[in-house]
Amino acid sequence: MKKLLSITLVLIFNLGCLAQNNARTVVHLEKNWQFINKDIAGAQMPETNTADWETVSVPHDWAIKGPFDKEIDKQVVRVTQDLEKEAKERTGRTGALPHIGIGWYRKSFSLGEYKKGEKTLLVFDGAMSDAHVFVNGKEVGNWPFGYNYFYFDITDYLKGGENLLAVRLENPPFSSRWYPGAGIYRKVQIIVKDQVNFQQWGTFVTTPFISNEMAKINIKSAVNGENVKVVIEIKDADGKIVAMCGSDEMFGNQIEQNIGVPYPKLWSPETPYLYTAHSKLYQGTELKDELATRFGIRSVVYDRDKGMVLNGKVTKFKGVCLHHDLGPLGAAVNKSALKRQITILKDMGCNAIRSSHNMPSHEQLELCDEMGILFMAEAFDEWVTPKVKNGYNRWFNEWAEKDVVNFVRATRNHPCIVIWSSGNEVPDQSEPDGPKLARRLQDIFHREDPTRSVTVGMDQVKAVIANGFGAVLDVPGFNYRVHLYEEAYEKFPQGLLIGSETASTVSSRGVYKFPVEKLDWKTWDDLQCSSYDMVSCSWSNLPEEDFVLQDDKDWVIGEFVWTGFDYLGEPTPYGMEWPSRSSYFGICDLAGLPKDRYYLYRSRWNTTDKTLHILPHWNWQGREGEITPVFVYTNYNSAELFVNGVSQGIQKKNFDTKQNRYRLMWMDVKYEPGTVKVVAFDDNGKAVAQKEIHTAGKPHHLELSADRKEIAADGKDLSFVTVTVVDKDGIPCPTASNQLNFKVSGAGRFKAACNGDATSLEMFHLPTMKAFSGKLVVLVQSCENGGDIELEVTGKGLETAKMAIASK
Ligand code: GAL
Repeated sequence: MKKLLSITLVLIFNLGCLAQNNARTVVHLEKNWQFINKDIAGAQMPETNTADWETVSVPHDWAIKGPFDKEIDKQVVRVTQDLEKEAKERTGRTGALPHIGIGWYRKSFSLGEYKKGEKTLLVFDGAMSDAHVFVNGKEVGNWPFGYNYFYFDITDYLKGGENLLAVRLENPPFSSRWYPGAGIYRKVQIIVKDQVNFQQWGTFVTTPFISNEMAKINIKSAVNGENVKVVIEIKDADGKIVAMCGSDEMFGNQIEQNIGVPYPKLWSPETPYLYTAHSKLYQGTELKDELATRFGIRSVVYDRDKGMVLNGKVTKFKGVCLHHDLGPLGAAVNKSALKRQITILKDMGCNAIRSSHNMPSHEQLELCDEMGILFMAEAFDEWVTPKVKNGYNRWFNEWAEKDVVNFVRATRNHPCIVIWSSGNEVPDQSEPDGPKLARRLQDIFHREDPTRSVTVGMDQVKAVIANGFGAVLDVPGFNYRVHLYEEAYEKFPQGLLIGSETASTVSSRGVYKFPVEKLDWKTWDDLQCSSYDMVSCSWSNLPEEDFVLQDDKDWVIGEFVWTGFDYLGEPTPYGMEWPSRSSYFGICDLAGLPKDRYYLYRSRWNTTDKTLHILPHWNWQGREGEITPVFVYTNYNSAELFVNGVSQGIQKKNFDTKQNRYRLMWMDVKYEPGTVKVVAFDDNGKAVAQKEIHTAGKPHHLELSADRKEIAADGKDLSFVTVTVVDKDGIPCPTASNQLNFKVSGAGRFKAACNGDATSLEMFHLPTMKAFSGKLVVLVQSCENGGDIELEVTGKGLETAKMAIASK
């Protein structure tokens, strides 16, 4: 075997990060961008005076520093998806943050050894929105959709020495249903390569045959150039070459190879094993381009009798929907924040994410590949018929195909993606042209990726049954409407159905309301929701309604709960009240702290660890003697509850009501301060686990716990430190709202704080915030020089708390 020279260098360059092999150079444009939040005629021209522009790093979200203002993007709308009969004034729908308007970015760069005539691409992972991109004063292109990946060939716009990149972005009002973020919120790269090259996103790796002994890896490489040869080495996760192949047989611009990998290790959520295809492009003996494509070997079949079959095993989606914002970080993508989210979700037993309702970041997909999360990758929230006046409807006809093409080509090698979604609750589903549009989009997905199925999250169930829209789809997806699943299953031809959006139960972490009753809409004066999790919305339902279908119907192939984490904007049920600026739907709050519901899902989804969780908290001064129901979320089937040692009886999971099947509930407990204890039994009635909660005294000191105490010294990595207000005995004070202050010294900086309170107008980036339900989270970011970091948290009347974090 002839081993070809391949050296990969990773350098830190003044521009940012530079990755180079001997055939192509990739430059990340991260630091030293100039930014201004207004329109300036001719801002792309080199001579523009930028004295009053701010210096920022990309990814950047210009709106996240606020301030919150209820007048921003105030929308008077009738939300048909929410079954509204008349238009209502909505504040906070898009987060009440200043994302509306025009922003300009500029960045100077030079390409070092750049040789005239080399192919140079400028690649954006997403820019919010309507990007007009200029190089050296000339416009090189425009990409309207803020969520998509796009690139321009800037070869002919470059000169030797310094070049100027300028980007104009514009977010009109009434263009979103949630906080979209603002600015260049994902990464930007320049790729310099030979004229003879692998086309951008032109390599497609699939695994059409898998057996224990052998997997067939099919690799299609789209190339620019003639008389070329593609040589591919497949390496396993340890970097060992396990297969190799070369071909110069061109079909049009494509070279296709089938390579056998012996005894393949399969990718799955439990074993997310990854291989890498190292492709080299030769003209004669000269190496012209080089590419590494990571992939997984796995098979996915949607089988009408079995459901979703992954590597031969029936697998249900235990999924959550996620918006793209990262709470206190806004839309600016950050890999460690995404990793923390996935870590929290995996502990819950979650195995899937739906990127609602847009293209996910590459960083999120990379993590899902590595950590083992199935992915429903969604394209649009709107097609032709508007939900919001200035939404994607403005662009659909001209841009939808281009957007789907970029979406699929840029992401199709991720093994985590197991289904595409072409739309979410698009109003077109009940329009006469709806089925044609659905088919047109699905055909584009299939053309670009014949290996995956396509769904749409539908909510107009009667209409899509009647007009054929639902029958067009590979896999019908339903948002809520559990009472219509059975009818749709009978009438649709596919024989299976996916809960593309489920539950939409609303709660505020650590807040409980009385009396405890099941309702489909309820608001309270403090603009909070109850964590007894008995309230959904008029169009949605409680988790159990979905559990029953998931458990009892094989043809329901899984669910995606709305949502895994709270997000900025859409503060249902308080869309008409102020202040309220973020959602209540999350299983975890905006800070990433689990609400009680987390444990309900964990008790069902995490089948390897035990869950035994008691709610509510036990600090109810003033409620002495009053009925204060206690719920336990557990994967044990029965348990006994004690209040101050007095038994409240044994509860068993049973099929009497949907709630009793999944929650243990003691509805008649009377509050008295002290200790609540639960003792759980195994199926033989033996006590096997127990848990206690206690009434807390006055706030006394603070406890800090970090998700990671060692972070990378790269200026980006984050440690998320949870701060808990506790009494003198260390018992968490569940109602504490102390104003806390943060100071970070050493090799790190204070990045943001978040308490998960949807009604808080305190800004995330300021080093002070009130605790909410006794807790908040502080985000500490590394600098580029390694060393010790110290976080200090203070609060009036509380002992100061300190935490050391190492940055390496
Ligand atoms: C759905 C919609 C989501 C979100 C959710 C709230 O109808 O698809 O984007 O708005 O309702 O319950």
